[in-house]
Amino acid sequence: MSGKFFNELSWRLRKVADFLGVRKYFNTKLYNLILIRAEKTNFDLGFWKFMNYGYEPTDPTTRPQLLPEDKEDRVCIQLYQHLVETVAMAGKSVLEVSCGRGGGASYAVRYLKPKHYVGLDLSPTNIAFCRRQYDHEGLEFVEGDADDLPFDDEEFDIVVNIEASNGYDSIPIFFEQVHRVLKPGGHLFFADLRHNEKQLNELREHLDATAFEQISCDDITGNVLAALTLDSDRKVGLVKDKVPPFFLGSFYNFAAIKGTHMYKGFENGDNTYLSCRLTKAGKSS
Ligand SMILES: C[S@@+](CC[C@H](N)C(=O)[O-])C[C@H]1O[C@@H](n2cnc3c(N)ncnc32)[C@H](O)[C@@H]1O
Repeated sequence: MSGKFFNELSWRLRKVADFLGVRKYFNTKLYNLILIRAEKTNFDLGFWKFMNYGYEPTDPTTRPQLLPEDKEDRVCIQLYQHLVETVAMAGKSVLEVSCGRGGGASYAVRYLKPKHYVGLDLSPTNIAFCRRQYDHEGLEFVEGDADDLPFDDEEFDIVVNIEASNGYDSIPIFFEQVHRVLKPGGHLFFADLRHNEKQLNELREHLDATAFEQISCDDITGNVLAALTLDSDRKVGLVKDKVPPFFLGSFYNFAAIKGTHMYKGFENGDNTYLSCRLTKAGKSS
């Protein structure tokens, strides 16, 4: 089966799920079931703190200095660092929509010193993991939906959103929600991939139609591919002996291990990864 066919198939399955109104069901219930099953079989998932494909800077001398305990997760942290580095987070109020397993939230709080950082995710299993795993002042985790953010208007200075929008019911509603909860002059840092030109154009149209000013929107596919290449062997080592052989291929593809359809999609240009910085009009206080 070719990479193109695989990507098209998964896109069509998503469209069917949308038509039936069950995309969220797949995003939460199925995913939670897999995690709960893994935890029951004593598969220790404590190591799994990031769910993104990572970023390797074009100039490796600009790689951030990391604490020894963070080096394993270097490329995933670098994606966060690359995206948020243009605006100082110190003393700010930050919301991360779709924080996943909380690794990015923990990095931001420890290195960038925001006043308050809220990690929100649709998955109760992820939120329960985050609450167990991290205990930093000013950091909290909330279960919630990107399409209906449970916050007041103008509550945050910065919103971070990494590799998650592909799973949302409505991208325009998500952008409206982020615009609502941001203070005037606030920033949205957004990064995600799309699997073909049609999907990419759709995303660009949604980005252009938001009420935000687009400060930058860069194609970082090459940097993500470099990260995947660097991190492939480590990821294989983490799951190889733990995941039942029947599921191993799907796991490898999900993680875009070298040689899989997902990885090849980055090599042959099917997959495009965007990194965008947007600002809400008005003066920040
Ligand atoms: C690929 S992970 C990325 C997690 C994190 N940003 C990272 O880089 O490690 C995508 C996350 O989006 C969450 N998600 C999917 N649909 C969502 C929704 N409608 N609202 C909030 N979170 C959602 C999933 O539960 C998952 O944790």
